[in-house]
Amino acid sequence: LEIARTVSDLRTHVSKWRLAGEVIGLVPTMGALHAGHLSLIKIARTRCDRVVATIFVNPRQFLPHEDYESYPRTEKDDIDKLIGEGADLLFSPINSEMYQPDAATSVTVSNLTNCLCGTTRPGFFDGVATVVTKLLLQTLPNVAVFGEKDYQQLLVIKRLTTDLDIPVEIIGGPTIRESDGLAVSSRNIYLKSQARRVAPNLFRILTTAAEAIASGDDLSHALLKAKYELQASGFTNIDYLDARNSKTLVQLSDGDTTGRIFASVWLDTVRLIDNVLIEKV
Ligand code: PAF
Repeated sequence: LEIARTVSDLRTHVSKWRLAGEVIGLVPTMGALHAGHLSLIKIARTRCDRVVATIFVNPRQFLPHEDYESYPRTEKDDIDKLIGEGADLLFSPINSEMYQPDAATSVTVSNLTNCLCGTTRPGFFDGVATVVTKLLLQTLPNVAVFGEKDYQQLLVIKRLTTDLDIPVEIIGGPTIRESDGLAVSSRNIYLKSQARRVAPNLFRILTTAAEAIASGDDLSHALLKAKYELQASGFTNIDYLDARNSKTLVQLSDGDTTGRIFASVWLDTVRLIDNVLIEKV
């Protein structure tokens, strides 16, 4: 595994491979790598000759009260995991390499960001869209892989690459779950033991609601029931619980039986997000 700390080093490595006609895959991360990230590296591995992973805890996608300072930073372990997965290059820049002090440009994707996490975390998607645009332009990969756990983020990234004519194929990797259904996430380490016991109920309740909607049950009733069950099972707050179109994120109406159900919930100070496909079986 080669390690690049500067954009210029990154470009030196990648341009050699590009000149040799190799297919390049990019997997952007904020580190604290877990089975979800490693599954994205595996997808890139099967599709590409060379895999570049990035680790950058992007300050622009954290709100002032969020966990930027305490976000887990575990580069040594991450490097071992990347070696284990056969990644070719890690790009792990410091802040000043990514953002000039006088940087004045940011990328905004509208429509898709007017709901769900776009409403509860204002500015978050501008931060994501800006850093992902930069990482794509710095690396110029053929393929980039992102997890479906952050489904809205995945749609935002697909939209921006289309709108900005960035020549890359964006691939979504399925959500990886613990054996009890909890979606793996770098922030799961914040869950204390009681909260960790409650957490898998999120996936269970979303799955039940998705099945009910898919089989034609009344949409508002299914969502109300799911909200009630989330509260009853111990979630302390619900940011949103919503059934939406999988491509446009427009809210489903009664009678719609395909789409996706999205939730953001809290267990005390820990926020969990998840989403489940609504499909007719
Ligand atoms: O999903 C993440 O880890 C981040 O939002 C990403 C895509 C690496 C951008 O910082």
